[in-house]
Amino acid sequence: MTLSQAKDKLKKYGQEHLLKYYDQLSAPEQEALLEQIDATDMSVLDACEHRGKPAGRGVITPLTAMQLTEIEANRESFTATGLEVIRAGRVGAVLLAGGMGTRLGADDPKGTFNVGVTRDLYIFECLFRNLLDVIRQADTWIHLFVMTSDKNHEATLKFLTEHDYFGYNGEYVHFFRQEMAPAADYHGKIYLEEKGKLSTSPNGNGGWFISMKKAGLLELVHSEGIQWLNVFAVDNVLQRIADPCFVGATVQKKCVVGAKVVRKSDPHEKVGVMCLEDGRPSIVEYYELTEEMAQAKDENGVPVYYFGVILNYLFSVAELERIMEKRLPLHVVEKKIPYLDDSGRLIKPTEPNGCKFECLVLDMIHEMESCLPYEVERDREFAPIKNMTGVDSVESARALLQKNGVLL
Ligand code: UTP
Repeated sequence: MTLSQAKDKLKKYGQEHLLKYYDQLSAPEQEALLEQIDATDMSVLDACEHRGKPAGRGVITPLTAMQLTEIEANRESFTATGLEVIRAGRVGAVLLAGGMGTRLGADDPKGTFNVGVTRDLYIFECLFRNLLDVIRQADTWIHLFVMTSDKNHEATLKFLTEHDYFGYNGEYVHFFRQEMAPAADYHGKIYLEEKGKLSTSPNGNGGWFISMKKAGLLELVHSEGIQWLNVFAVDNVLQRIADPCFVGATVQKKCVVGAKVVRKSDPHEKVGVMCLEDGRPSIVEYYELTEEMAQAKDENGVPVYYFGVILNYLFSVAELERIMEKRLPLHVVEKKIPYLDDSGRLIKPTEPNGCKFECLVLDMIHEMESCLPYEVERDREFAPIKNMTGVDSVESARALLQKNGVLL
């Protein structure tokens, strides 16, 4: 893109300030800045003004989960089906590790965080160990796709190779980068993070399948005959990955997606809840839940909006390909964004100072024809690490790891 083309584009979106330091840059820096301006989707910036306004929703009704008693009664059969599918090489796993983990406050990739107390125990290590349990059970390797972002790719790769993938077979580990989106102030003005660089942040976890495609990994998915992808978050150190019983239940119930869910700890717990929206599977966010919905119960007295998602989904690849072209809703998230102030100094704010733009994996569920919410015991499979202390923290995850017999 030429300077004059860049000026036209910036004028159209009211972003002329991004060239403030242009004349101070070296020629390669100028070129890189023009390239970045060219590549950045600025149409998202309008959304800053509408942040916090909930999008219109369809008619929400309950979606019953498969609960622990039913799972226990069928465990043998589900597990046998799941192992068969895994042994046939039909299941892959996708680790979503592109997030910034800002709430945890560390600069390194979240997976490199050490939750150990008397010994080293990294978040990534917990996940690889959990997956290795299934590798042993099924006696076959499972392809693991790891999504990173421009912000943490090198550090993630270095850490995992240095630790030899914690015993995982490196030939079965594939990295891909997610897309980035601009980060702006509350009026939709993109921040600069360097004199020749727009502030960007990963564009949410909803673009993972498209990013896999762009990285050429769908060819591998097809050539290996992978029909199911188990997508999971980096920060739940207890979750079971490619869990044969979960795979078998989803396959036997002929659903195109399975979603692991837990009973909420209280009606207002901040997790998204499985539901039907206009008759299709969907997730209602905790802030969209009315008091009436939070208290609604079925004929057995069980609350109906009670099963929270834990970001562990098993998607049919065919369905993912069918919905690939659909645009997911854009979420505007208020975050702390480092920026250059008027005098060109880098400021690292301690409070949110602007917006990032994200698509979310949970919105993919609504595009699916059918979904099996599959209950897991929260004390055994849900130990997310979002913060250092308090709810969903290093502290709470350590307690749960210990409860499950993991030496810290
Ligand atoms: P979170 O919603 O916890 O976001 O991500 P985060 O960015 O990691 O953390 P905070 O909000 O800044 O503290 C849930 C999962 O989605 C992944 C994360 O790595 C985590 O596994 N994710 C999130 C991505 O892969 N890409 C993104 O752009 C955002």
